[in-house]
Amino acid sequence: MYSRTVIHENFREKLEEMGYKYLKELARGFFSVVILVRRKDKLLVLKVDRVGAPPSGHSIVELFSTANYAKDLANKDVPIAVQYDSFTIQVDETTHFITEMKYYPDGTLSDFIKNRKGEPLAPRILLEVYLKLLSALEALDKKDGVHFDLKPGNILVVIRDKEIVEVSFCDLSTYRRGGKELILTSVGSEYYYPNTLGHFHKGDLYALGLVFLELLFGKVPWVILDQFMYDREQNLRMLDMLKDSLLKRYNGECTEKELTEVVSLLEVVFGMLNKNPAERPNATRALKQMREVVVGDPSGPSQEPDNISGSKRKHDEVDDSVDDEEKSHSH
Ligand SMILES: Nc1ncnc2c1ncn2[C@@H]1O[C@H](COP(=O)(O)OP(=O)(O)O)[C@@H](O)[C@H]1O
Ligand SMILES: [Mg+2]
Repeated sequence: MYSRTVIHENFREKLEEMGYKYLKELARGFFSVVILVRRKDKLLVLKVDRVGAPPSGHSIVELFSTANYAKDLANKDVPIAVQYDSFTIQVDETTHFITEMKYYPDGTLSDFIKNRKGEPLAPRILLEVYLKLLSALEALDKKDGVHFDLKPGNILVVIRDKEIVEVSFCDLSTYRRGGKELILTSVGSEYYYPNTLGHFHKGDLYALGLVFLELLFGKVPWVILDQFMYDREQNLRMLDMLKDSLLKRYNGECTEKELTEVVSLLEVVFGMLNKNPAERPNATRALKQMREVVVGDPSGPSQEPDNISGSKRKHDEVDDSVDDEEKSHSH
């Protein structure tokens, strides 16, 4: 029987021989353990995967390929947890695959949401987090990368003065390149990536839409979602219920104008949750819609410089990234 225990005496000994001082375990999953270590006065995080662990463990080749890809992306302005190195440690019969990362002491978006204990986020802060996450996804999209396991627990955050100033995607085991030609082989989480979703890239956007709802409501609004989860069609009654619930939540918490803005944010989020991939926006379009919500706010985030293509950024540019295959599905 497969045991979840990855860290044991010999492993720690080997780690220490290599100059890593084991400090504590940060998290433990079925296939990996995430630990905090110190090396030469520097705090680091090691994610330890057991190679080929049943039932669906990855091979050493897959692990190295994913790790190299992730490291490469992180070096190209894609907000992915900074990765320094990958290597293996052999203990008895078991090969451990190690990814050495930057330590994010503020934890994940999941911790952030839990720590607020349901307290609503000010609309301005909400919008800023949305923009950061959408920009991160857009950057990944542009590199033809697909995360395929986006959820609050896989988004590391940097917090300053109780505000999220930086986001980084982590947990790269489901990462894929070139979404278009890939088929669904593994699903990160059935809730964030229901099998009916179809297109990979936009599947990430759908998952992010659910993350956005969690930020908006301080928790997953199960009571409402449960009723509509398996509907393939856009369901306007669901939007009405979410709006009602949101108005109650923000009533007395902000100005009338902000209340209208929060509802507009919800409308964009709702579009991201469209189960029909042909109707769901991509990251670039959702980002544009999100930016248009707070019109004329001088303190609002401005357009990022287009340093990738370096040339045009026209309105119709967003349509270029919707592939033909999807267009043909839309009628
Ligand atoms: N670089 C990091 N800094 C701080 N915490 C981290 C880091 N990487 C992972 N974690 C913590 O460990 C948890 C599990 O890591 P993750 O890569 O998502 O592994 P799993 O495959 O087990 O989900 C994360 O949800 C987060 O709480
Ligand atoms: Mg994870």
